[in-house]
Amino acid sequence: MAALGRVIARGNLSRYSAGSKSATSRFEARLRERLKAKHVLTVNSGTSALISALAAAGIGPGDEVLVPAYTWVATAIAPLAVGAVPVLVDINESLTIDPQDIERKITPNTKAIIPVHMRNLVCDMDAVMAIAGRRKLIVIEDACQAVGVSYRGQSAGTIGKAGAFSFNHHKNINAGEGGAVITNDDRIFTRARMYHDVGSYIREQEFEGNEPIFAGVNFRASELTGAVLLAQLSRLDPLLHRLRKRREVMSEQLSKSKRIRISPHNDPANAVALSVLFERVQDAKAFAAHRGVERLIDTGRHVYTNWEPIFAQRSFHPRMDPYKWACRDISYSAEMCRRTLDILERTCYISLGPQYPLALIGLQARKLAALTS
Ligand SMILES: Cc1ncc(COP(=O)(O)O)c(C=O)c1O
Repeated sequence: MAALGRVIARGNLSRYSAGSKSATSRFEARLRERLKAKHVLTVNSGTSALISALAAAGIGPGDEVLVPAYTWVATAIAPLAVGAVPVLVDINESLTIDPQDIERKITPNTKAIIPVHMRNLVCDMDAVMAIAGRRKLIVIEDACQAVGVSYRGQSAGTIGKAGAFSFNHHKNINAGEGGAVITNDDRIFTRARMYHDVGSYIREQEFEGNEPIFAGVNFRASELTGAVLLAQLSRLDPLLHRLRKRREVMSEQLSKSKRIRISPHNDPANAVALSVLFERVQDAKAFAAHRGVERLIDTGRHVYTNWEPIFAQRSFHPRMDPYKWACRDISYSAEMCRRTLDILERTCYISLGPQYPLALIGLQARKLAALTS
């Protein structure tokens, strides 16, 4: 409230009017430092961040973009916004994109991969980057649900060509709505900045390099967003610390149970989220009846079978149809990623309750372990 009050009292609610005092610029500087990233660009949502990153990377009509079948629909819609089409890839038991299925889904038209660090669970980035390097694909990380989380010493979102963060109400830090493009690549940053601001040409003093100007959109964030995010940033590491501790306690107890298996994690030493896997669907269903547990297939909207706008393959104007520009017929069906459905049917996500005392989480862990021993 104090941070917002200061911005309102000054009366400069846009970063460009706030000039050197801009809270948004200070937020970006602090986030850059925290992530060890060269560039951070605040935008008005995670979806905008994904679209800006794709546009900046030159993804467009005729291109296919690989996205996991388990993510928020925004990941799959972002390629459509730049004229490309999403191609669905199965997840594996880590709940993130399956590198083996990436290989199977690559065609001569594939240009990019969007691995998604779902629910603070990191993707197998070593494998993703190795495939991308071999097959000359661009990696745009969707780290909207994993702000601040690390993968083998690097921050999620800083490993690929660019990353996208969301700061909506449900995320690790939130300003109601908001997002950021993260990149170590000067050209991607310059182009993302140009794309996210229709008025970039009147702010040409800010553009370095010789990138030819092109028409963008307006995905700018306001100083109110910047001020909230700057204040929220100091809460990020304490939150992740609490999650890490609670995961340790919970996984220690649950690993004693014979009937459940802790889901594989792509960087267990730094894990801040936990899910468990059952052999049988009915056991997962029964376990999900307990407080603090949810079976992932039941969370619905993140499962590809519920992505109505993707299945409809319809755009706002018949001639602005990326599927007509695609180099082959693209279609979607409910059964196309059966392995993803099978995993989600048998996986339960355990809430780590960072807002509760550790002792209470210990109690809950023992209770859940006893129920399944
Ligand atoms: C994985 C994922 N990608 C993209 C987005 C889009 O972010 P936003 O809602 O800020 O546009 C979200 C947000 O829910 C998300 O969870």
